[in-house]
Amino acid sequence: MRLLMVCLGNICRSPLAHGIMENLVREKGLDWEVDSAGTGDWHIGEPPDRRSIAIAKKYGIDISKQCCRLFSQEDFDRFDRIFVMDKMNLRDVLSKARSESDRKKVRLLLNEEVVPDPYYQDDQFAPVYEMIEAGCRKILEQELNGQS
Ligand code: 4NP
Repeated sequence: MRLLMVCLGNICRSPLAHGIMENLVREKGLDWEVDSAGTGDWHIGEPPDRRSIAIAKKYGIDISKQCCRLFSQEDFDRFDRIFVMDKMNLRDVLSKARSESDRKKVRLLLNEEVVPDPYYQDDQFAPVYEMIEAGCRKILEQELNGQS
């Protein structure tokens, strides 16, 4: 299974989703690929936001080595599932889809709910972490139970 996490900047939310899911997958001993990307190009080549690095570290996860990259159409070929954080990400990713098969790979990480952008609110990194972790656990459970 190959999973891609996508947000706007690829420095706050999707790096957390990337690190958290990678950690869960490793704990389960699964050989799954996890990656992340952004729909915006402002931070390409940069590490995650220091606030995301700090909150992940608190939970024992090191995301400091990740490197921001842009989402591209080829990602539809490379990944089985593409999880986005909010409705804008959903629209931006779907706008690059070439087929129904591409479109079917794309979902909100939290299903009905969105993961809000914490970029301008320092105090949102902790709740955002919790939301993303809960979403990742649920996704893993669903994939393993074949309910996806
Ligand atoms: P993210 O947050 O989408 O969770 O990585 C953002 C980070 C940077 C910007 C926007 C959102 N930005 O405009 O630079």
